[in-house]
Amino acid sequence: AVERTLSIIKPDATRRNLTGKINAKFEEAGLRIVAQKRLHLSTAQAGKFYEVHKERPFYGELVEFMASEPVVVQVLEGEGAIAKNREVMGATNPANADAGTIRKEFALSVGENSVHGSDAPETAKEEIAFFFSGLELVG
Ligand code: CMP
Repeated sequence: AVERTLSIIKPDATRRNLTGKINAKFEEAGLRIVAQKRLHLSTAQAGKFYEVHKERPFYGELVEFMASEPVVVQVLEGEGAIAKNREVMGATNPANADAGTIRKEFALSVGENSVHGSDAPETAKEEIAFFFSGLELVG
């Protein structure tokens, strides 16, 4: 089925001018960027987005990092987009990511791992609604 998923190009990647190279990976995989904007999240906004990880030991560090510099939030659309995006991103820890994936090529560490992608249809729906109104999704 055609799906939509929420993607974030993280501060370690925007800082190194990797937005275009990362978007090329998505587009080459057949994922269409149907919405996109650059934002500088506040710590409150980043904390709310990652609330599900609140009890994890890395939560504070994760929130500080995501609010440290601009991010690019985007909606990717395509056949099986949620799984396809996770494939293109590679494993969370770049040390475990397959060759050719975004995290293998660009990520600096498990925290500074260049991209976020929704992990399931329900979270994709919630995460898209967190950043975008229906009017901003141009399929
Ligand atoms: P993401 O897909 O954005 O979802 C949660 C993030 O937490 C994850 O990517 C990682 O970047 C981050 N994360 C996971 N494990 C650690 C860790 N041990 N230290 C710091 N950040 C982590």
